[in-house]
Amino acid sequence: MSPRHILVLGGTTEARELAAALAAHPGVRVTTSLAGRVSRPGAVAGDVRVGGFGGADGLAAWLRAEHVDTVVDATHPFAVSITDNAMRAARATGVPAVVLRRPGWRPEPGDRWHEAASLAGAAALLPDLGPRVLLTTGRLGLAAFAHLDGLRFVVRCVEPPGPPLPAHTEVLLARGPFTVSGETDLLRDHRVDVLVTKDSGGSATAPKLTAARRLGLPVVVVRRPVLPEGVEAVPDVRGVLERLGLGGRTG
Ligand SMILES: NC(=O)c1ccc[n+]([C@@H]2O[C@H](COP(=O)([O-])OP(=O)(O)OC[C@H]3O[C@@H](n4cnc5c(N)ncnc54)[C@H](OP(=O)(O)O)[C@@H]3O)[C@@H](O)[C@H]2O)c1
Repeated sequence: MSPRHILVLGGTTEARELAAALAAHPGVRVTTSLAGRVSRPGAVAGDVRVGGFGGADGLAAWLRAEHVDTVVDATHPFAVSITDNAMRAARATGVPAVVLRRPGWRPEPGDRWHEAASLAGAAALLPDLGPRVLLTTGRLGLAAFAHLDGLRFVVRCVEPPGPPLPAHTEVLLARGPFTVSGETDLLRDHRVDVLVTKDSGGSATAPKLTAARRLGLPVVVVRRPVLPEGVEAVPDVRGVLERLGLGGRTG
């Protein structure tokens, strides 16, 4: 009997953990799909394919051609297009789909959070919050901040960002996981007044929130986009394995 083929749409820590757990199951073949944005994505268990599918139709064609039995969207909560495409392709092909979304962060006592609906909304809040900004929203979309000539930005991301950037920008290339002490040093060393983050959730990048809380700094949190209508996500790898009838074993 041919193995059950599971496609994991990846680009997150959870996707990597899921691939490892699935690869450990006899009778399962797992393929992880990466967008190809990061030049050194790190080891992933099972098969890996890289690059876009060509929209929902391209993904549907891939699901058919590769005899995919289930697709798991384990992409980043802010990767809206690929999730939308996955849901459409699943509907068109009849291939069951599961969405894995790590829960968002919750404010704790002492946090000074300012919620924004978008990067542009975050940019609009900054002039009132302080002149030195640590921007951790990723290398894409920084054009939203490019007009803020009066502020100084430290932009931390995994890959170098492209223009347009704010006039006063220092780029720090780094990949999580980060520590509270490291994040505290970073905020202090750069005399940061305000932190900007997406509500990515997860533990790897949460220490910046703890560090900001301890230093009493405000944080602008960009809210997550909502999932497509009718889509309900599971919060972790165990939940996905249960949905797949694979018993919650996490490898
Ligand atoms: N957005 C973030 O803040 C963020 C943060 C960390 C990691 N990531 C990861 O980086 C990737 C790209 O993020 P994004 O925000 O640019 O996504 P996006 O806007 O939802 O996707 C744009 C296009 O990139 C391709 N794509 C995205 N993810 C893919 C995947 N896993 N496999 C194959 N093709 C993929 C698709 O192209 P086609 O239409 O041609 O298929 C998609 O239409 C995602 O996989 C995500 O998990 C994103």
